[in-house]
Amino acid sequence: MKDVYLNGDFLPADQAKVSVFDRGFLLGDGIYEVIPVYDGRGFQLLGHLERLQVSLDGVRMKNPLTKSEWQSMIEQLIERNGGGNQSLYLQVTRGVAPRDHVFPQGVVPTIFAMSNPLHPVEDKYKQQGIAAITLPDIRWQNCNIKAITLLPNSLLKQQALEAGAQEALLIRDGYLTEGAASNAYVVIKGIIYTSPKDEKVLPGITRELVIALAAKAGIPLLEQAVTLNELKQADEVWVSSSTKEVLPITLLDGDKVGGGIPGPVWQQIDTLYQHYKKDVAAWH
Ligand code: PDD
Repeated sequence: MKDVYLNGDFLPADQAKVSVFDRGFLLGDGIYEVIPVYDGRGFQLLGHLERLQVSLDGVRMKNPLTKSEWQSMIEQLIERNGGGNQSLYLQVTRGVAPRDHVFPQGVVPTIFAMSNPLHPVEDKYKQQGIAAITLPDIRWQNCNIKAITLLPNSLLKQQALEAGAQEALLIRDGYLTEGAASNAYVVIKGIIYTSPKDEKVLPGITRELVIALAAKAGIPLLEQAVTLNELKQADEVWVSSSTKEVLPITLLDGDKVGGGIPGPVWQQIDTLYQHYKKDVAAWH
């Protein structure tokens, strides 16, 4: 049994127990991070820890650990789970208290971390692309906070799955925001568009890297939302996330995107992304 981290201890997953009064369980009162680990090292780790801080600030919780405490715990957890490639999950909830909507006073946050397998992105998805459907963005108004309250995302992703697609692209007030578990990009006439960083989208760590890679390669990119109509007529559509990297969407609502095969701009960004991942010196 692999070790998890709970409130200061490393212990086998089946021995890790949390109270039924934990506000994460009763109210979804918590935040989380997902960090890919390559070759035993957290990829873009500092970016993830900074976003964790932003999420904690967003739900008015104090960070229970310092940056170096997080780093040291993460290093130990990676090591205890055999190094190599992993997907790390961190979660902080407000803690254990009698059920009440109002914040409890003097409560100790629950800190939990686990390692999951990081499956390599399947070749067929990169060669053929994936399918997506558009759905109304039914989430709350603070999507920039990485909250554990994922019921809307879960419903949306399930609906996509049942429609034979891998992702749902979300539409709010006529504009594309992001995917149910990813950031979204649209290429129109050689320009990449992605929604700006505001409360309508999660500021993806992979998104940040895509923006930097596009800038380095001189590919024009605008942080500007596109309409549903523009999305439907785009030359290329992609999504990105820490665990799925950057994936092309070649079927949208049953219609081919561009030529129905992954486009050249995606190809260029994916090549740069793969180089960056391999170039250990660039991120350590
Ligand atoms: N999700 N937008 C949403 C709604 C997400 O859930 C995610 C990632 C992203 C991409 O962010 P990043 O590049 O930092 O992974 C955007 C994670 C992987 C998850 O919930 O499992």
